[in-house]
Amino acid sequence: MRVLSSSLLLLCVLGYVLCDVYMHNPRGSNNRLNERTAVRRNANRLFDSQNNNRGGYNTGDAESTAANNDPNKQYSMQYYQSGPEAAAESRLIVEWTNQHGCGGSEDSSPHKLNCDIVIQYMCQNDVDQSALRANLAENKDNLLRDGLNTQNNGYQQPNRQEINENNPNRNAVYTNRMSGNLNQIGMGRGYHESMVWYDMCRYREANGGLFTADQRLNNGNLGYKDSSRTRQNPNGNRSGFECPEERDYYPYWFPTLMSQTYDQARQTTPWIDMAYLTSNTSRCDLIKKGSFNQNGIPRCVVNEGDRTYGRAITEAACTAEGGTWVTFQSYLEILTSITTEAACNAKAATDKRNKISWISLRSDETAKKCVVQAPEVDCTSAPWTRVNHNGNSPDSQGNASRYDAVLPYFPSDTKKRCVMRLRYNISTDDYDPFNTNSASNEDIQEGVVSPIEQNPLVDVGASARPLRLALNTNQYGRTFQDRSHVFRMLPRDSADMTGKIIHNLNVRGKRGNIVQTYPAVEYDFIPNRATVSTSDLVHIQWTGSNTHNNQPNGGDGQTGDAGEGQGGTDRSNFLEMQGEIENYPAPFENTTFWANVKSVTQPSATAKDIAAGFFSSGYYCGAAQSANVCNQNGDQVLGTGGAMNDLLNNAPASYFGHVLKFTGKTTVAYMCSRNNNFSNRSQKGILWVVDPADAAKSQAAKKSRRRSFVMKNL
Ligand SMILES: *[C@@H]1O[C@H](CO)[C@@H](O)[C@H](O)[C@H]1NC(C)=O
Ligand SMILES: *[C@@H]1O[C@H](CO)[C@@H](O)[C@H](O)[C@H]1NC(C)=O
Ligand SMILES: *[C@@H]1O[C@H](CO)[C@@H](O)[C@H](O)[C@H]1NC(C)=O
Ligand SMILES: *[C@@H]1O[C@H](CO)[C@@H](O)[C@H](O)[C@H]1NC(C)=O
Ligand SMILES: *[C@@H]1O[C@H](CO)[C@@H](O)[C@H](O)[C@H]1NC(C)=O
Ligand SMILES: *[C@@H]1O[C@H](CO)[C@@H](O)[C@H](O)[C@H]1NC(C)=O
Ligand SMILES: *[C@@H]1O[C@H](CO)[C@@H](O)[C@H](O)[C@H]1NC(C)=O
Repeated sequence: MRVLSSSLLLLCVLGYVLCDVYMHNPRGSNNRLNERTAVRRNANRLFDSQNNNRGGYNTGDAESTAANNDPNKQYSMQYYQSGPEAAAESRLIVEWTNQHGCGGSEDSSPHKLNCDIVIQYMCQNDVDQSALRANLAENKDNLLRDGLNTQNNGYQQPNRQEINENNPNRNAVYTNRMSGNLNQIGMGRGYHESMVWYDMCRYREANGGLFTADQRLNNGNLGYKDSSRTRQNPNGNRSGFECPEERDYYPYWFPTLMSQTYDQARQTTPWIDMAYLTSNTSRCDLIKKGSFNQNGIPRCVVNEGDRTYGRAITEAACTAEGGTWVTFQSYLEILTSITTEAACNAKAATDKRNKISWISLRSDETAKKCVVQAPEVDCTSAPWTRVNHNGNSPDSQGNASRYDAVLPYFPSDTKKRCVMRLRYNISTDDYDPFNTNSASNEDIQEGVVSPIEQNPLVDVGASARPLRLALNTNQYGRTFQDRSHVFRMLPRDSADMTGKIIHNLNVRGKRGNIVQTYPAVEYDFIPNRATVSTSDLVHIQWTGSNTHNNQPNGGDGQTGDAGEGQGGTDRSNFLEMQGEIENYPAPFENTTFWANVKSVTQPSATAKDIAAGFFSSGYYCGAAQSANVCNQNGDQVLGTGGAMNDLLNNAPASYFGHVLKFTGKTTVAYMCSRNNNFSNRSQKGILWVVDPADAAKSQAAKKSRRRSFVMKNL
């Protein structure tokens, strides 16, 4: 009988998944779409979260009623991109809670675990929402979308006839199967990774060098272990078109490109690494080298008719398979309008954010392109949180764990549709997490006993009977995930935005009280306290659903949707209060904030127009009929339009808001009139607009406070 180390951390109890990660801003879906129930309907809809069935937020609705089947009535958050100037950051707070603790070094923190948070995004050129209805081949297997129903796409696995050298029709078998798979893809179903990406995963041999403990991975249809099977997913279960091996391991050893060939029209990026937050920053150099962002990654390109991917994951195996070992480059986008090296270099000189180079996208191509690559992954320490607690972090100053993201800049100045993904990876030192490999996989005949085994019995000495540990080897060292819904990134379309910082001010949370929403959260502004400079811009925007009813089935929590206004509906607005300690909005005549702002997005809007938009969540376009502010069909003007419900029931659930610039120093304490209900719920905030020098000081203080919390040895 083996005696295990006493530092054993009991992770998840077998069969009862409770260790999780939930994104709160941008809203994490946890695989939800528009369910009226407290639990999600389909845990495998787009990705494998391994989270609790509760939690997660619905997609946004653009109007006051549920979008149902109409993609035009869904709302995607629209964030402005950063600009090319170093200072022109578009900042977005990424906020999440993780249940099993994170941060601190494994030696000095009492929770004794290794933890990494990997934040990535994927983008492509935007299309009109109505394209989500168009049943066209180029949309079906290519278009990032939330979907209109919670079903999965079907998929037929590869079969041995496709790789049978003696079968002259093997290419036809492959192409028939793939066209069948393509036909099955529904425009109404959510889509992130592509079907081709998943098919590559089914072909690709599993990395035999990985530690799988005593889990037995079976062969796939093609007669070998493929990368759809991992220690955490031994049955090869499928979630959306995510590749399980890529999900579980980072940095991944295969380029995360979504198709066989570069798609010029859509320009779908691979997964772009934004941040790697870790309990051991001495690994940052390795992470930066392993990141696809600016490092080419090879794969085997086979020449099997229409199929260009196969089994090999090493150069030698690739040659044996008759393929070519080709290095691929990642990209944010390809500037197709730039056709010479000189023009590309000139563009590179103007872009202080990205790496722009005149290179080939793949090593077997001589043609060069002007390739924009994302900045290096930001590798830094993870916010510290304690275990067994979906709570706040001292490193985020008492807020839930946060990362201050700088959104990308796309030099083509085009609108993008994107999705963000956050993975939470924990492991213990019961085995060396980064150096334990397949040599330790259990093989009793060869006399190899895995360093960890399923529910082992441990000898506690003193002639006592052994005790059983709750240790599930497919959950020991584990990766959890959450993803945003599709959001858009807009090019900066106003000269007023040039060189400026844009702060995103949004609303997190969903309808219900603290237990009904758990492990999602109640409403709040995010950030709810912020200091910005008079030269910065602030974009106030929110999204909500009309179907957050949280009805039974409740899973392992309470159901219900306590809140004001019509059941199931999220609403927010933004009203100035007379002071920070109040719970009462000031009448417009008594406000000071609106006189100190101008709208960058609607320059002709008056203070009253802006205030009317924010207090009505866009129900009123403005306070007076004006060609520039109220010019859409159906616009309601304050005073002359139809009456707005005093609980915002007939106001839109989502509001794009205005990007504000400031005419001077000002402070605004603000609230949401509907949700702020002392003492049940607070949805209030305060924004200080200060001199640039004071804003810089406040930013520096925030950074230094971040690491002021040092865990002492117990
Ligand atoms: C941190 O990572 C480095 C490099 O992989 C390793 O040598 C070191 O032991 C790790 N430290 C801890 C506390 O795990
Ligand atoms: C995979 O699917 C099987 C059969 O549907 C299920 O019993 C098992 O729990 C799933 N495994 C994981 C890790 O989700
Ligand atoms: C999680 O940590 C393990 C080490 O225990 C590592 O092998 C794996 O690549 C990590 N996965 C992710 C997604 O960070
Ligand atoms: C959250 O963070 C902000 C700074 O971004 C800070 O001002 C605020 O006090 C924090 N909130 C709480 C509840 O600690
Ligand atoms: C608005 O300002 C006026 C004049 O200063 C004051 O008399 C009134 O009480 C204020 N109203 C509210 C609701 O604060
Ligand atoms: C505040 O919440 C309670 C409980 O839901 C409700 O009875 C009350 O009407 C609410 N107050 C307001 C002003 O909406
Ligand atoms: C609101 O708060 C009151 C008093 O704390 C409490 O009795 C009531 O149940 C709460 N209502 C909701 C809907 O949360």
